Amino acid sequence: MTEPLVQSEESANLPVPTRLDEVKGWFWPADQILFDWFLSRQNADPAGGGDLLELGAYLGKSAIFVGGYLKEGEEFTVCDLFDSPAEDDSNDGEMQRSYATLTRRAFEANYRAFHEELPTVVQAVTAVLPDRVRPASCRFVHVDASHLYAHVRTDVETSRLLAAPGAVVVFDDFRAEHCPGVAAAVWGAVDARRLHVLCITQHKMYATWDDPEPLRTELAVFLAGREDLWHGVEEVAGAPLIRITGRKAVPPAHPRSRYEASAPGRAPEPGPAPAAVPSRRTPPRQSPLVRRLAKDLLPPVLTRTARRWL
Ligand SMILES: C[S@@+](CC[C@H](N)C(=O)[O-])C[C@H]1O[C@@H](n2cnc3c(N)ncnc32)[C@H](O)[C@@H]1O
Repeated sequence: MTEPLVQSEESANLPVPTRLDEVKGWFWPADQILFDWFLSRQNADPAGGGDLLELGAYLGKSAIFVGGYLKEGEEFTVCDLFDSPAEDDSNDGEMQRSYATLTRRAFEANYRAFHEELPTVVQAVTAVLPDRVRPASCRFVHVDASHLYAHVRTDVETSRLLAAPGAVVVFDDFRAEHCPGVAAAVWGAVDARRLHVLCITQHKMYATWDDPEPLRTELAVFLAGREDLWHGVEEVAGAPLIRITGRKAVPPAHPRSRYEASAPGRAPEPGPAPAAVPSRRTPPRQSPLVRRLAKDLLPPVLTRTARRWL
């Protein structure tokens, strides 16, 4: 049976998201397509098991998405300081500037709107992870915690220790002006010829600590069939690197909020809350124009059904 969602008076007052788009965070359509592709590919591979790990969850936007790919017997660990103090002044300053209103309760309320079970939550600095997660156990690692050089350097090393053979590791904000420390730490590992880049988007670098070739080749085939993603290949540090831009990217299906049916203007859905829908399928190929026409021309109830189908 689905457990009641409201755990305490504090969480009872939190607004509940009816769609993933309503969860505040930094997780854009092009990256959603790539997360979907890498994780679905692993899920389709009988030998592709392993745990999932996210460093830096904030209010859960990317964690909710990743949680949709968790398979029976696997563990999803999420590490964030949430409302705990950081251990050094620079990190404390970063937390105050960027995430002052963040609480673990808000993350949990959001996550439980989409999934019945919470992930394993480590509320601490990411440096503790090698003591909490089994070495070489994670098939997918998303690094999106502190943006300060010393922390990211540790996170890069942690991703290496915890990555299972063939794992995909993703680094957020690896090139932005406001976080040179991330760039230095991540590209440093690439330059040392240890971390192998598969592709980059505007916000994230996708890489592996193992042989990149099989993944890179399959990715190139996938990208060739996507009309909503531009890609090009450039030689960097002695290896091909795929650049991707996705200004017109059509995001894949999102996990569904159990509150979706109770959003204003929607008919309430009787019975138990809908299970989170993992997005294991290839993103829709229908053009944005078809989607827009359907939205403009069909009555609202039909449009919702059509949108889901599309
Ligand atoms: C950019 S946000 C994560 C965004 C999230 N992945 C998303 O897609 O919406 C960074 C998160 O890292 C956390 N954080 C910052 N420094 C940290 C540290 N040293 N250890 C653990 N978490 C940290 C912050 O609390 C914040 O929630």
